[in-house]
Amino acid sequence: MKPEELKSFLDKKKLHFILAADAEPRIHQKRNEDGSENIFIPAGGVSVALDPIAQVANAVFIGRGRTKEDKEVVSRGNKVEIKGDLGNYYLKRVFVSEKERADYYDGYSNQTLWPLCHIAYERPVFERKWFANYQKVNQYFAKAINEEIKPNSFIWVHDYQLSLVPSMLKKPKGVTIGMFWHIPWPTWEIFRILPQKIEILESLLSCDFLAFHRGYQVRNFLDTVRRELEVRIDEETNRIYYKKRVTTVKNLPMGIDVDVIKGLLEDAPAETVITSIVNTFIGKKDKSSKKNILDEFFKKNNVIVGIDRLDYTKGLTSRLVAIDKFFEKNPQYIGKAVYVGIIAPSREAIPSYQKLKAEIKNLIREINLKYARNNWLPIHLIYHTFSREDVIKFYQKSKICLVTPLDDGMNLVSKEFVIASSKEKEPGMLVLSQFAGSAIDLTDALIVNPYDIDEVADAIKTGLVMSKEEKVRRIRSMAEELENKNIYVWTQEFVKSALEATR
Ligand code: F6P
Repeated sequence: MKPEELKSFLDKKKLHFILAADAEPRIHQKRNEDGSENIFIPAGGVSVALDPIAQVANAVFIGRGRTKEDKEVVSRGNKVEIKGDLGNYYLKRVFVSEKERADYYDGYSNQTLWPLCHIAYERPVFERKWFANYQKVNQYFAKAINEEIKPNSFIWVHDYQLSLVPSMLKKPKGVTIGMFWHIPWPTWEIFRILPQKIEILESLLSCDFLAFHRGYQVRNFLDTVRRELEVRIDEETNRIYYKKRVTTVKNLPMGIDVDVIKGLLEDAPAETVITSIVNTFIGKKDKSSKKNILDEFFKKNNVIVGIDRLDYTKGLTSRLVAIDKFFEKNPQYIGKAVYVGIIAPSREAIPSYQKLKAEIKNLIREINLKYARNNWLPIHLIYHTFSREDVIKFYQKSKICLVTPLDDGMNLVSKEFVIASSKEKEPGMLVLSQFAGSAIDLTDALIVNPYDIDEVADAIKTGLVMSKEEKVRRIRSMAEELENKNIYVWTQEFVKSALEATR
């Protein structure tokens, strides 16, 4: 489906579209030297996914402002107009104090709910004071939405940071409230320990429609409400009846904007920030060389790539151990294969994230010492948030992409890699954790259990020796699947199902 088709579908429905997510799709930063605006698109999956939808729907997008500049550019009602190729929309920013942010974001969202919902064996932390500010920030979002509500409003709330918002919304007749939960929903045995479980469940049951990526997450949610609340569930339709309200629940794995990735591949500049970084680790002295450094680097090495936020759910330490195992089992690749890990710093104030960073550093030092040869190291890590323009060539040219989370709602990197690689004559291969949400769509990847170090190490080897024909077949079939279920199809299905649920 093309964006224009979604546009005409939405136009016919005459909806006033309101999106709300913690992740704002644009962050304003200090102006450029020439005085022009410096706008940055954050790396998080949710903002990347929602931006084109906001454009097509000419939505009001309510997100949390991050920077001083974010505040400076907004006009009345805290709004700034975002102009896009697919249409314009208003970004309405919610601003919170530093204390509120710390409790709501670093605290309750990312130290309580995040580890509770992801099975990565990181113990959730429970602090009452965090919840108080989480409620407060959810109220700010709800207020910002309520100010925008019109009789034909379609309100679409996103993710675990805003779980209380649905219960705080006005709901005049004709208005639809939908919510998408982007992270996993755990089993009842795990969720039941949350002190504020009833508030959150009751809020989610204030939605007309609630969706998750995967079927097992829907089943976990139904089981949770069945065990915690006096609900009646229609098993045929997944409708939950609770206190005179009806909520329909469905699994809808999110797609990507395939055309945007293809466009990026065509326009990607030969020289990017990454090129100069690669230049430093291949120790190239002649910077004036006309040859494309990246091409040379990819030609000389079997490049294995990983692109992640620095997060314990991403399975980064197990991945490094698997790379070590791969070299141990396949010494013929010493000096011939390199792992380039591009890691976006994330949630840096949280102790478990700081601990993980230190662990990774130590592990890399150990592995690099073990295998280093003259001027060659097996692992290069780059800690930086790159734009997709910057990393797209890495996806396209790499022999292997390792996406091995211990638990992940969806994982857009795996999908973007498939599209980028499908544009190569000899594509690469995806090694994908069975615990990434995207494993439901990308069934032709080399699917692994990230806890099984030998299996991951062997999959790297399998991918490297796989015949060109086999890679072409697998990557093409996955790319086709992604074309058929792109972000616009996903949006249309969400809107259709939510409107149906409201009737
Ligand atoms: O889907 C999980 C999520 O937290 C999104 O809400 C967000 O866009 C992304 O991951 C990145 O998270 P953050 O920028 O809050 O670290």
